[in-house]
Amino acid sequence: MKTSKWTAERIKALKGTSKVACLTAYDFNTARYVDAAGMHMALVGDSLAMTVLGYPTTLPVTMEQMLHHTAAVARGVTAAMVVADMPFMSYQVSTEQALANAGRFIKEAGADGVKLEGGAFRADTIRALVQNGIPVLGHIGLTPQSIRQTGGYKVQGRKSEDAERLIADARTLQDAGVFAIVVECVPNALGQAITEAVTIPTIGIGAGPHCDGQVLVSHDLLGLSGTTVPRFVKRYADLGDRMLKAFQDYKRDVEGGTFPSDEQGY
Ligand code: KIV
Repeated sequence: MKTSKWTAERIKALKGTSKVACLTAYDFNTARYVDAAGMHMALVGDSLAMTVLGYPTTLPVTMEQMLHHTAAVARGVTAAMVVADMPFMSYQVSTEQALANAGRFIKEAGADGVKLEGGAFRADTIRALVQNGIPVLGHIGLTPQSIRQTGGYKVQGRKSEDAERLIADARTLQDAGVFAIVVECVPNALGQAITEAVTIPTIGIGAGPHCDGQVLVSHDLLGLSGTTVPRFVKRYADLGDRMLKAFQDYKRDVEGGTFPSDEQGY
């Protein structure tokens, strides 16, 4: 049976009914597995910069790189909603710039929506995208594109005034038209308070168990990100170790002359 496509409206309607499951994907084959596992959303995160391209932060990734990988992911899914992360400085300069770049993700890369970081101050941009038919996923709490200002990947909203501001941000983004909001790295109680303050799904990452859904970086979950991962990550596999072992075995066989054997020949 063909599974029907997850859309912004369908994901929005999951609030209070069932949890939203989302994972990052950056390439065709990972997207196929994410889709086959039944994920509602495949996020082409700007974490691409770090997980795939080896940069120390998300800041250097370009529009062209994000488009290239989003198109690969879009080719790999049939049901999951493909959301492309708008890279640093692709939407901050002006509403016109944000519209033009978000439009490229939809037209050129086959994305179903875009994500951009920021609270209430981002509302006008979001409104313009949504009014022009582009579904937007919000992102508040820890916003890695602000790393130069925040000075590190720290838990956000610990002080009551910061918590109040994040709740207000979530409400403003909802009013601006986002279909869901990523809430990153806030105390569990604040994740719950934000979730209760809005009628759209909250997608938590390090925001506790009370959000309406969850997202993780697939490399973290698979054990491909080295030994240091944030505390909120749950490792479901050790593919890094498995890959190393496979590569070592291959090298041993090549050097020992046992691969290829007659069986692998023509
Ligand atoms: O870039 C990314 O992968 C993200 C998620 C962690 C939410 O923004």
